[in-house]
This record gives sequence, C-alpha cells and structure tokens, in this order.
Amino acid sequence: MSTNSTVALPITKIANVLDADVVEADVFKSVLRQMAGTVTVIATASEDGLHGMTATAVCSVCADPPTILIVVNRSTRTHPHIENKQAFTVNILNDGQQDIAELFASKGTEPFAKVSHKLLNDGCPAISGTAGYLHCLTQAQAVVGTHTIFIGRVIDAGVGAPKPLVYYDGKYCGVGELTRERL
Ligand SMILES: Cc1cc2nc3c(=O)[nH]c(=O)nc-3n(C[C@H](O)[C@H](O)[C@H](O)COP(=O)(O)O)c2cc1C
Repeated sequence: MSTNSTVALPITKIANVLDADVVEADVFKSVLRQMAGTVTVIATASEDGLHGMTATAVCSVCADPPTILIVVNRSTRTHPHIENKQAFTVNILNDGQQDIAELFASKGTEPFAKVSHKLLNDGCPAISGTAGYLHCLTQAQAVVGTHTIFIGRVIDAGVGAPKPLVYYDGKYCGVGELTRERL
C-alpha cells in the first residue's frame, strides 16, 4: 500500500442543469465518436496480483508539476485496485498492439500472464514494447456519475516505440504518416 494521501475532490457546482438542457444520449455518443483517442492500458497492482483495463479517457493536465487525469468506470474490476493502491501506470499502446487493447477490454482472467511487462518500484506494471508509459501517484479523485476521475502526479515515464494506437468512431486505427507540420 502506498503512503501517498489522496484528496477527495468535491465537484464545484457552477450552474444548475435543467432537464431541458440535457443533450440526447445518442447525439452525445455520436459527437464523442468524432473524438479520436489514444488507446492505453491503465494498470495497477494489489496483493492479489496485477490489474489493468483498456482506456482512452486519459488527459494531460499540466506539465508543472507533471500531472495527468484518467477516468475510470466504477463498475470495472480495475477501479477498486486503483483506488486502494493510489498509484497506477498509463501504458500507451503502439499501433501494433491492438491485440493487447482487446485483451484488456475483454474481462478475461489474468491478462498480464499473456503480456510481457516489467514491475516498477511499487509493483505497478509497465507493458513492454509500448509507445510509452507514465507512472503516477493519485493526488486527488472525484466521482462524476458512473465514473471516477483520478488525478495522477507523474513520478516516472518512459518513451518507447512509435506510433500510438488510436480509437476513432468505434474502430482502431493509426495516426498516418504525420506529414503535416504545425502552422
Ligand atoms: C477503446 C476502448 C477504450 C475504453 N476506454 C475506457 C475508459 O477510458 N474508461 C473506462 O472506464 N473504460 C473504458 N473502456 C472499457 C474497459 O476497457 C472495459 O470495461 C474493461 O472490460 C474493464 O476491465 P476490468 O473490468 O477487467 O477492469 C474502454 C474500452 C475500449 C475498447
């Protein structure tokens, strides 16, 4: 168990949402399908072993201090282990690792027995051959509807093999040839 102390964040209410303001669920989902997401495996460890799940809800928060957030459904098997450990890794899959994405989305038993990985100093796993990984301590968390937002301070990171695997419109894809420069 980590000695890191997590703060439970209240959600600051900035507006009343009326029934009339609520977007239709199918419209909401259609719009979100237009948001391409980098495919990761969020992973952690417990006394029972290693736990992980495929996730695209990962976002940079700030670089000073290095901080990210992840959004995890409370009904997943991995959620209680992230909450207990107060530490996790974000493994950024590369475009040759779709099989790993499907493995960690499929609720099989002991997925880490099928995937090469190393254990970091607190026992959290880093999957081999990824585009990179972030190792985080949970700084704060907030419950929103069915999910928990975990805010993680990045304490270790590694860059690996490009390029990342992407999920877009319900399908896996890559990022193409990367020929466009910033204007
Ligand atoms: C491409 C993709 C992205 C996903 N992103 C998330 C996510 O960001 N957060 C989440 O809670 N579940 C996400 N899921 C669903 C979980 O991977 C899925 O519920 C998984 O079975 C949970 O595993 P577990 O119950 O063994 O922890 C995603 C699934 C896929 C295929």
